[in-house]
Amino acid sequence: MTHFLEVDDLEPAELARVLELAQLTPAPAVLTGRGVALVFEKPSARTRNSSELAVFQLGGHPVAIRAEEVGFDRRESVEDVTLTLAQYHSAIGARVFDHKVLERMAAVSPVPVINLLSDLAHPCQALADLLTLQQHFGRLSGLKVAWVGDGNNVCRSLLLASSLAGISVAAACPPGFEPDRGAVDRARARGIDVVVTGDVAEAVRGADAVCTDTWISMGQEVTEAGRRSAFRGFTVDPPVMALAAPGAVFLHCLPAHRGDEVTGDVIDGSQSLVWPQAANRMHVFRGLLLWLFGSVL
Ligand code: CP
Repeated sequence: MTHFLEVDDLEPAELARVLELAQLTPAPAVLTGRGVALVFEKPSARTRNSSELAVFQLGGHPVAIRAEEVGFDRRESVEDVTLTLAQYHSAIGARVFDHKVLERMAAVSPVPVINLLSDLAHPCQALADLLTLQQHFGRLSGLKVAWVGDGNNVCRSLLLASSLAGISVAAACPPGFEPDRGAVDRARARGIDVVVTGDVAEAVRGADAVCTDTWISMGQEVTEAGRRSAFRGFTVDPPVMALAAPGAVFLHCLPAHRGDEVTGDVIDGSQSLVWPQAANRMHVFRGLLLWLFGSVL
């Protein structure tokens, strides 16, 4: 069974194929008469809407479920919920606090389990990030991406996706907020340059894309004051963007907090691709489903 818990569950050629399928028009109705369950332990604007629409565009029926409706490990076990949903649905997407929940789902599921965001990874976001770069630059290999701020789940998946596509990555993060060492080693083992630094200028200089994310993700509100202090100096503003390569673009997975991780003139300015990036969440989810089911159903 093929599950999609992290972006490098795909081989490089499979990633390229998913991006190709994301742009297939018209999309074939491979999910006609079939359901896809979408379980959310956390709020979502982009992921829920893009995944529901993608399933609909393939002829399927998405069923979005708030986690409290199924009560993971409270009403019944994660495993029993998964096996129940698999009786009705051809795939199960889930947004969870703890990545281990996804691993438990994948361990028992007879249908693909898709990570819609966990504390560890956000692979569907990374697919959209790469599609956005490919559409803008006409290529991926040889690009340099700079990450500024929290080396979080989004950073990790972008790093690993970049390593599949020949993109070098430089991450500027405060001490204690660097991307996890295992992911950095995995990316380097695929031959890309990975720099992890505390110096924003070092990371951004010459980059084709500058990426960031919120300093305070869902569930981190209790540590907000400490985080704000740690991330001082890690705002992507016009002087930071000026260090990047000519023609560089700005990416942000959203939701954004203008004045914190990015200034309004950058995210709302001419270098920003955040709206095509958000739109691509839907296209890559369709591409992923086509890759999972195109030749199976
Ligand atoms: N980027 C992203 O995952 O957005 P949502 O949290 O709104 O789904």
